[in-house]
Amino acid sequence: MTSYIGTSTSRVDGRAKVTGRAQYAGEFKAPNLVYASVVTSTIARGRIARIDTGRALAVEGVLDVLTHKNRPKMASTDEAYIDECLPGGSPFRPLYDDKIKFNNQPIALVLAEESEIARFAATLVHIDYEAEEHTTDLHTQIDKAFVVDKPDKPRGNAAKAYAAAAVRHEGEYFIPIEHHNPMELFAATVIWNGDGKLTVFDKTQGVQNVQRYVCGVFGLHPDNVRVLSPFVGGAFGSGLRPQYEVVLAVQGALQLQRSMQLVLTRAQMYGLGYRPATIERVALGASTDGTLQAITHEAIAMTSQYEDFSRNDTSWSALLYKSANAKYEHKLARLDVPTPCDMRAPGAATGVYALECAMDELAVALKLDPVELRLRCYSDSDQNNDVPFTSKQLKACYRKGAEAFGWARRIPEPRSMRDGNDLVGWGMATGIWEALQMPTAARIVLTGNGHAEVSCATTDIGTGTYTIMAQVTADMLGVPIENVTVKLGDSSLPHSQVEGGSWMAASVAHAIAAAADEVRIELLGLAQKMPGSPLRGLQPDDVVLSDGMIVAKQNKSRAVSLVDAMRHGGVDRVEHEKLAEFKEDNKHARNTHSAIFAEVKVDEQLGIIRVTRVVNAVAAGRIINTKTAASQIMGSVVWGIGMALHEETLVDHNFGRIMNANIAEYHVPVNADVQDIKIIFVDEPDSTVNPLGIKGVGEIGIVGVAAAIANAVYHATGKRVRDLPITVDKIFPLIT
Ligand code: MOS
Repeated sequence: MTSYIGTSTSRVDGRAKVTGRAQYAGEFKAPNLVYASVVTSTIARGRIARIDTGRALAVEGVLDVLTHKNRPKMASTDEAYIDECLPGGSPFRPLYDDKIKFNNQPIALVLAEESEIARFAATLVHIDYEAEEHTTDLHTQIDKAFVVDKPDKPRGNAAKAYAAAAVRHEGEYFIPIEHHNPMELFAATVIWNGDGKLTVFDKTQGVQNVQRYVCGVFGLHPDNVRVLSPFVGGAFGSGLRPQYEVVLAVQGALQLQRSMQLVLTRAQMYGLGYRPATIERVALGASTDGTLQAITHEAIAMTSQYEDFSRNDTSWSALLYKSANAKYEHKLARLDVPTPCDMRAPGAATGVYALECAMDELAVALKLDPVELRLRCYSDSDQNNDVPFTSKQLKACYRKGAEAFGWARRIPEPRSMRDGNDLVGWGMATGIWEALQMPTAARIVLTGNGHAEVSCATTDIGTGTYTIMAQVTADMLGVPIENVTVKLGDSSLPHSQVEGGSWMAASVAHAIAAAADEVRIELLGLAQKMPGSPLRGLQPDDVVLSDGMIVAKQNKSRAVSLVDAMRHGGVDRVEHEKLAEFKEDNKHARNTHSAIFAEVKVDEQLGIIRVTRVVNAVAAGRIINTKTAASQIMGSVVWGIGMALHEETLVDHNFGRIMNANIAEYHVPVNADVQDIKIIFVDEPDSTVNPLGIKGVGEIGIVGVAAAIANAVYHATGKRVRDLPITVDKIFPLIT
């Protein structure tokens, strides 16, 4: 009966995107639009002693300069600044007072008739600071790190079992600060509709989240604030929390009672969230047969002085592998920096990197093939909670990935495989992520011409949500996908949380299915009122919507067309909205898994590392769209290459200031760095995780990739680099 779910349907918004019709937050226009430009701090900690806006105000075309002294009224309680993705602590308030909490903090906003004027005048704002001593180096604060989240409970006695283990490996791994750097700059356009009514176009992953936040911060009524984010040019977690551009743009609009546009610069985006630098200590003890006896995983991550951003780096370890003894610890260290935030697979991209490098090192110590070690430690249950998985086709991932890669031809000894001047290395790793789902509502409006509009307040952060919403609606209503219009990214639409955590595909698909059930029930009722109806006596579960018809499941010849049913019933639209909620299930673990195989070639003379092949075999339940899902995984693999070899935010600790706040000096993979990437989706039927068997693929693709590459670099060169990124200086010299 399904015809679109499971296919490689092209993006329904693809044409709009490539022709420039898709509009992003900083591209909306309004009559009488004012342009804003931000002034940011040049110290990391202290206060503003004096701020002189005179020269900026004197520039022709400048309308005002907002600072903490003259900004519109903002809420004074922390509660007013809360949002869905809030960590513990006291949320940052842009332009609130004279305090400086991090370098590159917004401290003034220039409002002008042209963006160039605003940007020029911003350079004329003069600030005198009273600086205080700052700390921005995680390594100096390890002793002061503290525990926030309670980690998963320990099992057995890991220290004792480790001490007694026949083969042991202990290592410290490091992941530096990484910035999201989405192509689209953070921006907000606030349309002043008169009477204090605002339409806000914001770059965000959650329009209803931003709407509630803006109303809280400025004491506005929800009816007066509508937030839209119809297209998002990448976000990867950086748009989960409301960012300061939206606060400043609303401040400007309220101050001048005019429409306002603020586009942050690339450098200013380095004052938003980021993946926190994290130190990971992993200790693994095993018997000589390769069965794990002890896992200890300790992580120390950075956070700000004012919030406790913490993600689960550690308990993936004994969730993934069987071990009777396990212990975790997760600590935070405070620095004078902005609060970190989620970045694709937060906690797992980092924690599993360390675990999977450590497993590779253990395999070397055991003289065991790395895949074989993982099979010997394979766990069919989540040992942390002592429950089975709803499904776990990880063994198939290992098998299919290894086959596609040609893993059997690997020569175990490091530096034993060559291609001319290049040392060749083959490495692998496992990936794991959660299969989450959130209460989400959808509305379907079916009109008499057989067209349907489906809507939900979710965003599409580039993952393909527009497309899968169209696919699911078309299948559930039995209409061609061309007849489906999707509306999303608007706070006035049915309920949605932020799009993140890989939960949206499952969540919105079930919301659509629930709304479509109601549509089917109403259509059947209409059809049964037709004289001599062939569907008389049937219950809603006895019929399906297919090919524009209401059809009896048992007898396909008993059918009425949707159009006829509606016309006879005298209705020109059938409209239903439903909230999908998901049952609590403490009896199962819900996870996606993957096996990654990577080949690197390392020039022995020059030390240049190239990732020549990657196979990522993923088990993530039912794949709604094999094309957009593969794109998610492919993008993740590219990012994993960046994480392994390129990405690193560099801070000058003397000034507490980022030195490479641009995408020239913050290195990311470019075309030349990306060669052969093969994505495999392993069959994973799962009727327990949710009725449609959907798990989500937004994040699983990056988990483990950096480890597979690091392990391949070791295999190629014999050099084990534990702190990312793996750069030439860290592997030199290769000829001794
Ligand atoms: Mo994702 S880091 O939940 O946008």
